[in-house]
Amino acid sequence: MTKKEELENLHNKWKQECSCELKKTATQAVPGAGSPDAEIVFIGEAPGKKEDELGIPFVGSAGKFLDEMLGLINLKREDIYITNVVKYRPPNNRDPSPEEKSACREWLLEELKIISPKLIIFLGRHAMNNFFPELQISGAHGKLLIKSFKDISTKYFFPLYHPAAALYDGSMRETLKDDFKKIPKVLKEIEKREEKAN
Ligand code: URA
Repeated sequence: MTKKEELENLHNKWKQECSCELKKTATQAVPGAGSPDAEIVFIGEAPGKKEDELGIPFVGSAGKFLDEMLGLINLKREDIYITNVVKYRPPNNRDPSPEEKSACREWLLEELKIISPKLIIFLGRHAMNNFFPELQISGAHGKLLIKSFKDISTKYFFPLYHPAAALYDGSMRETLKDDFKKIPKVLKEIEKREEKAN
């Protein structure tokens, strides 16, 4: 089976099995999308209104800003894979609850297992705290984190501010762009570390 087929099967399975309460109010599930062979997986928080309508992650204003930033480092949406901690839209875009995040956690981990990217980029605190509950996004953004988890093979993580938060805050927007421009260097750093380890 190709990775693409594995992901399709995974999303079909979880659309049936996910016990997330948000299923009751959302229009549909919004599974991850993009290249199954991506070196980088981006993880956001939860689908918004537009994503809920279309069933595709990051297609609203935050997604447009994200595309702009990908352009800064010569990447396109097709080069990456993007998903969310929670796969269903919370009503009125409220924060997802700890129960909702944990109901969707296995779905996310299985996506990451199939893709096995070199680098996982957290978009905002919800994604980061899902793996590093002790960290604050204000201190951790733009810094490479290295940690092994038993469920996934990736051990390199890079937290960023969420593009939706940065859209309405000029200084956060500039910080996010500056952090984004560090991504090619971060990938090189990972390669160097992996070469040394092997
Ligand atoms: N914000 C997110 O965190 N995810 C989306 O898919 C859209 C907006």
